[in-house]
Amino acid sequence: MDSFENITDFIDSELRLQNETGMLRSLFPLEGSQRGLIETEGKPLVDFSSNDYLGLADHPALIEGAKKAMEKWGAGARASRLMSGDLEIHHRLESAIAALKGKEAGLLFGSGYLANTGIIPALCGRNDVIYSDRLNHASIVDGVLLSRARFCRFRHNDMNHLEDLLKSHKSRYRKALIVVESVYSMDGDQAPVSELLELRGRYGAMLMIDEAHATGVFGAKGEGIISQAGAESVDVILSTFGKALGGYGAFVAVSNRMKQFLLNRAKTFIFSTALPPAVIGANLAAVKLLEEEPERRTRVCELASELRRALKEDLGFINTPSESQIVPMMVGDSQGALSLAESLRDAGFFVKAIRPPTVPEGTARLRLSVTANHSLKDVRQLLEALSSGF
Ligand SMILES: Cc1ncc(COP(=O)(O)O)c(C=O)c1O
Repeated sequence: MDSFENITDFIDSELRLQNETGMLRSLFPLEGSQRGLIETEGKPLVDFSSNDYLGLADHPALIEGAKKAMEKWGAGARASRLMSGDLEIHHRLESAIAALKGKEAGLLFGSGYLANTGIIPALCGRNDVIYSDRLNHASIVDGVLLSRARFCRFRHNDMNHLEDLLKSHKSRYRKALIVVESVYSMDGDQAPVSELLELRGRYGAMLMIDEAHATGVFGAKGEGIISQAGAESVDVILSTFGKALGGYGAFVAVSNRMKQFLLNRAKTFIFSTALPPAVIGANLAAVKLLEEEPERRTRVCELASELRRALKEDLGFINTPSESQIVPMMVGDSQGALSLAESLRDAGFFVKAIRPPTVPEGTARLRLSVTANHSLKDVRQLLEALSSGF
């Protein structure tokens, strides 16, 4: 094992390793970002890397909502919800998301990361077992690790594997929790929600589904993909405001009883300052827009479907599991993905290379994400640029 004389040696060695393996990350300040166009070094780039799927981040209604809430309530919430930071607008937003998701209650969290790392350890402890899809987001993985429950990862979307694990563990643990995403953040494919509900029932497990990338985009009202299969049987539906809803923060949609439990037990709720009024004002406006501007949802889905079709049929690129607005193009090695992203930048597109540890080793990729800010022309031009790169 390497031993280090001082912290500088350790840091230099780690950074060198990241660099040698093509995994060094750096910040890239933008000079502007409006309506899907990013400005950098004086050059506009069409942004195909954003999670602002409905193009709401700079919508006038969100900006107005934020301003009004800030004028009325101030810049900060002043304390955690359980102290003096519990504002009437927090409750209004919780009711709105409960109605959207078809659950009794909503509960806000500072971010999706905080929600996952607070809720999972609240639900499970040392004597429990958690079944987590292999491709789950880092915040879910960290939530499981913090819980100290037995951590069982099942092969991505493989319900037979999950059932085998459930069977072999039956009655060995006090409680079991299955945790998945409904639309996977880096693969863009969907979880088999009906089968998960069936397994939940058959084995008496709890089921938690992270809808970070489905809320706003899927469902007749933008409610996500769970409702059709039966939202009432999903114990915890989690989502963020930082993606299709264009804002910041996160929420769970749950039963009244579960809400009561979580606000008493989830440490990232209890010991963290409440979301600020401006953020809540913007989030409230965004939830309202889901109903008022459904055409945004339709546009994203149509453009994404055209991108997926053309990649396969016109470019012969079949190596994408996508069933959503997230369309990854698998490259394999990190350097290859980085140089493709670079050539797309030269062609006027901002696309991020996604590398390990965000995705499994050997599966570096370009993650294309379609938003309502794009036009069919943008998608066609991107495809043209891709056709010369592959
Ligand atoms: C599936 C999933 N859950 C949770 C999060 C974290 O959400 P937030 O950005 O609000 O912390 C992300 C963010 O990328 C995500 O993709």
